[in-house]
Amino acid sequence: MKSTAAHLRIVATLIVMASLAAMVIPQHRPVEAAGSVPVIVTIGQTPSPQDEPIWQQFEAWVAALPALAPGEIVPFRDRYVASLVQQGIARKEAERRYERILVIRHGSVDRERVYWDGAFKSGIGPDSPLRLLQETIRKLKPGRALDAGMGRGRNSIYLASVGWDTTGYDISVEALKGARTNAEKAGVTIRTVQARHDTFPFGEAQWDLILCAYCYIRPDDTQWPEVFWKALRPGGLVVYQTFVETATPVSDLVDRWRRFRVLRVEDLDAGVVDDDWTISRTNPTIKLVARKE
Ligand SMILES: C[S@@+](CC[C@H](N)C(=O)[O-])C[C@H]1O[C@@H](n2cnc3c(N)ncnc32)[C@H](O)[C@@H]1O
Repeated sequence: MKSTAAHLRIVATLIVMASLAAMVIPQHRPVEAAGSVPVIVTIGQTPSPQDEPIWQQFEAWVAALPALAPGEIVPFRDRYVASLVQQGIARKEAERRYERILVIRHGSVDRERVYWDGAFKSGIGPDSPLRLLQETIRKLKPGRALDAGMGRGRNSIYLASVGWDTTGYDISVEALKGARTNAEKAGVTIRTVQARHDTFPFGEAQWDLILCAYCYIRPDDTQWPEVFWKALRPGGLVVYQTFVETATPVSDLVDRWRRFRVLRVEDLDAGVVDDDWTISRTNPTIKLVARKE
């Protein structure tokens, strides 16, 4: 009798412990939503000797690729595959090459730049500003904003349109061209700089807001909280939203930003974010707003 009661107590304790663990330990989540397009693998690779000619052909193709008229979009993959098929290459092989390109582009910033030049010549990317940014700045007094990896400038243009003095940088010349054209059309002034994250002069106490919207700064890259801290003025904000390839416990993310006051953090399942880059619908997404105090 005694031993049955003790046994029950142990079982009950285990159940309570398991429920507590379920509450505090972030659950592992699938990287790919059912029926989705394949997740883009962002672990970079150096091209193998077999990849080299594929990359060289791709780079030359991107250089010669005409930019579509503003507002026109053709999926970049379709454009590339169709060009190879036209040259007599079997569709399956053309698709295989594109998959290789997606992997090896991440192995170097220069290759990443080539990829994005081609993608922007094909008109990809959303036009409306990031919702997290809109929600965050609604009641703020405008100041100096920096848009890291600005793309075609949708967020810089939005910031400028509501009074922020805005600078954006990107590795892609085509992104910057698009940003300038779009800013002109919107009748706002923005500053655009061609730079990469590791060469842009962030400076010290320069910015009231730093935005990284899917800018290819990984949430597990530990150097950025320090760079942003130094670059922000007191009271300045970081607005960060990106997809993640591996489930990163949100507690790790918050820990990396511990010098800041974290005002908002969200760790969203694949398929939840529906206001942004298509790719974020097939990957988990992280949102973070943090303030330098
Ligand atoms: C997914 S797009 C996002 C563009 C923009 N932030 C937006 O939300 O519309 C990623 C952007 O990051 C830029 N990028 C990628 N790696 C970069 C790097 N190392 N330095 C600067 N920009 C980079 C690309 O050129 C591209 O414009």
